Amino acid sequence: MDQATALRELVRNSKPTPINARVITVTSGKGGVGKSSVAVNLAIAFAKQGRRVIILDADFGLANVEVMLGVRPTSNLADLMFRNKSIKDIITEGPNGIGFISGGSGIQEMTNLSKEQLINLSARLTELDELSDIIIIDTGAGISDAVMEFVMASSEVLLVATPEPTSITDAYALLKTLNKKTAFVKEHSKIQLIANRVGDPDEGLELYNKLSLVVGKFLDISISYLGSVPKDNLMVKSVMMQKPVMASYPESQAARSFENLASKMLGLEPVAPSGRRGIAGLFFSVLGRRQ
Ligand SMILES: Nc1ncnc2c1ncn2[C@@H]1O[C@H](COP(=O)(O)OP(=O)(O)O)[C@@H](O)[C@H]1O
Ligand SMILES: [Mg+2]
Repeated sequence: MDQATALRELVRNSKPTPINARVITVTSGKGGVGKSSVAVNLAIAFAKQGRRVIILDADFGLANVEVMLGVRPTSNLADLMFRNKSIKDIITEGPNGIGFISGGSGIQEMTNLSKEQLINLSARLTELDELSDIIIIDTGAGISDAVMEFVMASSEVLLVATPEPTSITDAYALLKTLNKKTAFVKEHSKIQLIANRVGDPDEGLELYNKLSLVVGKFLDISISYLGSVPKDNLMVKSVMMQKPVMASYPESQAARSFENLASKMLGLEPVAPSGRRGIAGLFFSVLGRRQ
């Protein structure tokens, strides 16, 4: 075989390296500011742009993503870990073909896993990287250890806040706690603010300017601005209809803004030097730290 043939052979036989899914963690300083709304509507916006999206509900409290999507998951992460279900078994289909995985009690149970179980779980989650282009993690609110672990392990974080003063101080408190964690490497995480329920785009920008001013002054963290979502009553109506605004009122102001945010995110480089570690890598570092 001459060199050219050998080369061609090599190219033909080499499988493309699987690309890890882009993992986006949605968080906020306090509850009720729109994290789950952002998670479900961005998911649909990404799906409309041809991406395969899976939402992972890592909220330990009320499982409200399923309410918003109007889906009823029959299994959760714990079933994957302890009851021999496959990844595909625990994904429930939502609007526009997006997938949903309920964290259920699984996330709490994970904290007690042995090293061996942990490696096994991470390996099985790798499959999720192959089934999706984007994984959105909806975290609970606040500064609990579990939320912090997810934020620290994520290369992309969306911080949701509203113009109310308490929301801004709570967002700052979250960043301040993050700043104190030795495990947090700022170069590895890109934190972007979404200003939700704003009266107009200027109000969103003002929110960002206020927050970034104090962050710049007192913390060794940098945040950037993704954009805003207007206060829109159709958002409230959609929650009651159990159909996200992107699916029920795609022409609404809120839906348009989610579309814009999604386009902006797709245009941006997912993350700087650390690269994509995928969902398995993220869980491994979340759980590994607890061993
Ligand atoms: N842009 C918006 N305009 C109007 N209402 C909103 C907007 N975003 C969220 N809401 C409402 O605020 C409530 C809390 O939102 P949710 O996404 O559940 O917050 P979180 O997940 O942070 O607790 C929901 O009932 C939702 O209808
Ligand atoms: Mg929520």
